[in-house]
Amino acid sequence: MHGKWWQEAVVYQLYPRSFMDSNGDGIGDLPGVLAQLDYLQWLGVTVIWLCPIFRSPNDDNGYDIADYRAIMDEFGTMADFDRLMAETRRRGMRIILDLVVNHTSDEHPWFIASRSRRDDPKRDWYIWRDGRNGGPPNNWESIFRGPAWQYDAGTDQYFLHLFTARQPDLNWENAEVRDAICDMVRWWMDKGVDGFRIDAITHMKKAPGLPDAPAGDGHGPVPAYDFHMNVDGVLDYVDTLAREAFSHGDIMTVGEANGIGADEAEPWVGASRGRLSMILQFEHWHLWSGDPRAGLDLCKLKRILSHWQNALEGVGWNALYLENHDLPRVLSRWGDPLQHRHASATALATMYFLMQGTPFIYQGQELGMANTVFHSLDDFDDVFARQRIVEMRANGMADDDILEEMALTARDNSRTPMPWNDGLNAGFTTGTPWLPLNPDYPQVNVAQQQTDPGSVLGYYRRMIALRASEPALVFGRYRLLLADDPQLYAYTRSLDDTTFLVVCNLSARAARYRHDGFNLEYAACMLANRPLLPHPPCNAFDLRPFEARVYRIGPAPA
Ligand code: GLC
Ligand code: CA
Repeated sequence: MHGKWWQEAVVYQLYPRSFMDSNGDGIGDLPGVLAQLDYLQWLGVTVIWLCPIFRSPNDDNGYDIADYRAIMDEFGTMADFDRLMAETRRRGMRIILDLVVNHTSDEHPWFIASRSRRDDPKRDWYIWRDGRNGGPPNNWESIFRGPAWQYDAGTDQYFLHLFTARQPDLNWENAEVRDAICDMVRWWMDKGVDGFRIDAITHMKKAPGLPDAPAGDGHGPVPAYDFHMNVDGVLDYVDTLAREAFSHGDIMTVGEANGIGADEAEPWVGASRGRLSMILQFEHWHLWSGDPRAGLDLCKLKRILSHWQNALEGVGWNALYLENHDLPRVLSRWGDPLQHRHASATALATMYFLMQGTPFIYQGQELGMANTVFHSLDDFDDVFARQRIVEMRANGMADDDILEEMALTARDNSRTPMPWNDGLNAGFTTGTPWLPLNPDYPQVNVAQQQTDPGSVLGYYRRMIALRASEPALVFGRYRLLLADDPQLYAYTRSLDDTTFLVVCNLSARAARYRHDGFNLEYAACMLANRPLLPHPPCNAFDLRPFEARVYRIGPAPA
C-alpha cells in the first residue's frame, strides 16, 4: 500500500461560496480562490477539493448541477478555472472536483427534456412512476425531509428525489446515463483535474421495484435508507465509473459513503479492486446524531476510528476528517471554544490528523473556528435547515426550541465566510456577504494567526510539515493504546524501526498518561500544543486539559 501520490497528500476542502470574494458581490468566486493560493501553499496542503463549481440555480449551493461542463455564473468563467488550475499546479498543488452524479438540478437540460413528455428519449434518464391511491408511488422519505417524490402535473407522474425536490435522481440503470456521466468525467480529466470527491455515491442504486419501507404508523413518508443506501449492485456503478473514466488517469477518488461500515469497506477501497482511492465514512460523526448536547464519548470514538484503521491496514486507505460543509464545527461539539479554544482545537487536530490515511482539513478548521450565532429562524440559509424547521413546526415544536436545536446542528455553522482579517467583513468581501460572518472574526482570523506561530493555524502548519517529513506518520501501522481511558486518545504509528507516540487529552480535566511499553527517556517531543512541563524520564507524565504531544520514540516495542 505504498507509492500513490494521494497517500502523502493533505487535502484542503474549500467551499468556494465562502472562501474569498473578488468582485464585491458578497459571494466567493474562483478569482478569489486564486488570490489566496499563496495562503494554501504556505499552510502546506497539497490538494484542494473544490465543492461544486458548476452552473447551478443553487437550491442546495451547487449540489444541484444544471450544466456539468460550465462554471457557475457567480464563481466566474472557464477561463478563471483554467487559470486557477495552472496556478495551483505551479505551486505544486492539485485540484479535485466535487462530482455530483446521484442527481442533477431540475434545471439541467436532461431533466427539462425528461419531464417534457412521457415518450421523450430522456424520460428514462430519471426515475418516474405513477402515483398510488392519489399519493406518491411509495412511502420513502427524502433525506432532506418530506416525501421523496414530487408530482409533475404536466405528465401526471411522480419523479424520485432523495434530496430536495429540485434535485431529481438520475436513473443509473439506464446505460445512456452511465455513458453520459463517464464521458463528462473524462472531459474534466482531459482538462487535467487530479481527481474527484464523489457525492452521495452509496445512494446511486435503489432497491429493485422501489418497495415500501416498513411503515411506522402507516401515515406519511418514512426513512427508507435500506432501500436507497448501499443497496446490492451499487458497486457495479462504481465499477463503471472506475473502468470507463477514473482508470484513464492517475487520479485520486474519494467517495462520500454514508452507510458503509469498516467491515464493508474493502470492496470499495481495497487496493486490488481498482475502484476508489478512499471513502469518507460517516460512523464517527453519527456519534453526534443522537443528542446534539451530549459531549464526546471518547471510548466509542476510539473504537470506531481504530476499527477503520485496523480494517484497512495493508489492504486499503483511509480518508481522515473531522469537519466538512455538512457538519457544525467540531470545536463546538467536542472541544471547548470558551475556556480552551486553542488547546482543544489543536488536540482534536492531533488526534485525527496523524492516523494512517489522507487527512482532510475543512476551511476555517485550521483557525479553530467555532459555530456561529443565530438570532432567529430567519437566519438559516441552507435548504436542509429550512426543511427541518418546517418539519419541526409541523410537529408542534416551539420556535425557541427549534432555534436552540438548529443552532447546534445546522450546516450553516460551517458555511460562514472565511475570516481573513479583522477589518470590514473580515476581508472576505467589500459588499454584503451572502451569509453573515461568524461574529468572533475580530479574534479568529488568518491575518492575526499567520504571524503568530503559537496560533491554531501555526500549529496546523507545523503538524502538516511534520507529517510530510516522516514516512512513519503517513504509512506506519496504527496501534491504539489505553482503549478504555475516558480522557486520553493515545496511539502509536510504526514503520521499520521508527515509532511515533501520539497522546491527546480530549477532556477539560488534567489526565495522567501511563504506559508500560515505552521508555520515554530518549524520546524526542516532535510536536506539542502547550509548552512542555519538564517530566522525569519515565513512562508516565501528566497532561493539562486538552494537552497533546507527539513523541518519536525509536524502535517499536515488541
Ligand atoms: C452530499 C453533500 C451535501 C449535499 C448532498 C446532496 O451529502 O455533501 O452538501 O447537500 O450530498 O447533494
Ligand atoms: Ca464574487
